[in-house]
Amino acid sequence: MQLLDGKLCSEKIRKEIKKEVEAIVAKGGRPPHLAAVLVGNDGASENYVAFKVKDCAEVGFDSTTIRLKDTISEQELLNKINELNNDEKIDGFIVQLPIPKHINESNIILAIDSKKDVDGFCPENVGNLALGLPTYISATPNGIMELLRRYDIETEGKHCVVLGRSNIVGTPIAVLMSRNSTPGNATVTIAHSRTANLKELCLSADILIVAIGKTEFVTADMVKGGAVVIDVGQTRVPDDSKKAGFRNVGDVDFENVKEKCSYITYVTGGVGPMTRASLLQNTLKAYQRG
Ligand code: GUN
Repeated sequence: MQLLDGKLCSEKIRKEIKKEVEAIVAKGGRPPHLAAVLVGNDGASENYVAFKVKDCAEVGFDSTTIRLKDTISEQELLNKINELNNDEKIDGFIVQLPIPKHINESNIILAIDSKKDVDGFCPENVGNLALGLPTYISATPNGIMELLRRYDIETEGKHCVVLGRSNIVGTPIAVLMSRNSTPGNATVTIAHSRTANLKELCLSADILIVAIGKTEFVTADMVKGGAVVIDVGQTRVPDDSKKAGFRNVGDVDFENVKEKCSYITYVTGGVGPMTRASLLQNTLKAYQRG
């Protein structure tokens, strides 16, 4: 078994981006600028945004965090998005999800200017992804593809089972893996909560991408020997032995599954850091598009 080390790969990507930013600044240009909107005080979201800010600093990007109370109205949030759409100093921005339930998430995503939608969530960018046109590929699927590319994992003709059909991960990664590209050219099955014979289906997977949001859902008896396993899950589980009072647990029972795999990601050094690096890549792209 070999680890797919997203921490290591993402360090390389950040170094590559940093070089590009240094070249921009050396020529007198301003650095790329990412803004993140954080609504409320969800602990995990706070953490994710803090990491995004830290990553920006590391590669030489400017960043702005916009903190809004969880009591904010939908209209107030839409007004803020409109401001960011029209702010020439901001190249790209994200609204950290989830947002409070009284705000309609689709309305928020629809309001983001597609040129600044570095999350790749809005309909134009998702449509371009489906059509194979240039776009911002959302960060988690892009990070997974980059990991497969950098480790030279054979995907052509393989059976890839994707567990989960979310807009952010399951659906776009299925599109990317089935595309006529490298990595890609896999035969893809999307599985979800209503899928019959899930265990048998998983056992037929050469590549198993798990984004189902249930801790340690995939157990060793569901994995074919030699499979490539990508764990997108990251759930906080209370743990008094940790300083933070919790530990992050993936959707895969790593300790037992790892014995059966050819390659596997681990939480939190697998898909998470690759997702963050992809957001930086998209922000650089937004800057270059002008
Ligand atoms: N919440 C969990 N993942 C993401 C992401 O990739 N982007 C945003 N905006 N929110 C998230």
